[in-house]
Amino acid sequence: MQRIVTVLSTKGGTGKTTQTYNFAKWLGSQGHQVLLIDHDHQMNLSTAFGIFNSPNTIAGVYDKEFKDPKILNVSKNVDLIPGSMHLGSIGETLINRTMREFILYNWLDKNYEAYDLGKYEYILLDSHPDVSIISKNAIMISNHVLSFVEPSQFGGFDAMDSLKARMQEFKSEAVVPRTQQSYVTADTLFVGNKVAYNTNASHEFRKSVSEMKDVVAVIPQKELFNRSTIEHRMIFEYEDGDQRNTKFFRDLRIEYGKIKQAIDKPEEEGN
Ligand SMILES: Nc1ncnc2c1ncn2[C@@H]1O[C@H](COP(=O)(O)OP(=O)(O)OP(=O)(O)O)[C@@H](O)[C@H]1O
Ligand SMILES: [Mg+2]
Repeated sequence: MQRIVTVLSTKGGTGKTTQTYNFAKWLGSQGHQVLLIDHDHQMNLSTAFGIFNSPNTIAGVYDKEFKDPKILNVSKNVDLIPGSMHLGSIGETLINRTMREFILYNWLDKNYEAYDLGKYEYILLDSHPDVSIISKNAIMISNHVLSFVEPSQFGGFDAMDSLKARMQEFKSEAVVPRTQQSYVTADTLFVGNKVAYNTNASHEFRKSVSEMKDVVAVIPQKELFNRSTIEHRMIFEYEDGDQRNTKFFRDLRIEYGKIKQAIDKPEEEGN
């Protein structure tokens, strides 16, 4: 069964792109077919794959002035629809469009066969850190929203609360008039990211999130993640047998496995 996931947070820099890049490649290495959609006008996900200025980007979905998107193969079992620096400004022009949150939904519906989208087990959308019309289009097609949070004051529990509130607001806005049932079915899952092993703050954070059902995994802090996107290499390619990294790589495989398991599940009602 295909799972569609929007990676989203209201705070910037929590690790969405870096983790989406590595998680997708990891899924690919396990034999899963993955489609990535770079849905952020910063285009960091495309850049991580060495794609800088493709003429056929996600912008074509939202604006007829742009060429139709093309799917590129970027890694073993991983394909990408590249991002566009224009996506943010295109989003602002949509304010007065009717059904403005259904543009991606309708495009998918129309192009599903032509683009052979049924072959993907996972479609992951990396997004800009906001709940704009563009992000809402991604949420609209998703089974889950996956959010990365950090053990910091604004990037942690505050960020969780703010995303939950925005999701709730969107769910209650986007309802079928007669039945009041929401078009938005995605639930919100959280992953702790950049969590150290040995600081007080991270210790407290681990303890708190271990009791939260919607926090599905915790990813350790590791400087190597920064290298991985710059050098276009999956994090596990740095596994060189150095004993000091054994625990990190073992833990990361377990945590990526937990994310996969949570994504594979049907969405939680009312979450
Ligand atoms: N587990 C981690 N340990 C250490 N550094 C990390 C980890 N995950 C991500 N980072 C680093 O955090 C920084 C921000 O990451 P990234 O760009 O992926 O965040 P983002 O949420 O996509 O940002 P934006 O909101 O701007 O799109 C990068 O330097 C990245 O290498
Ligand atoms: Mg990003």
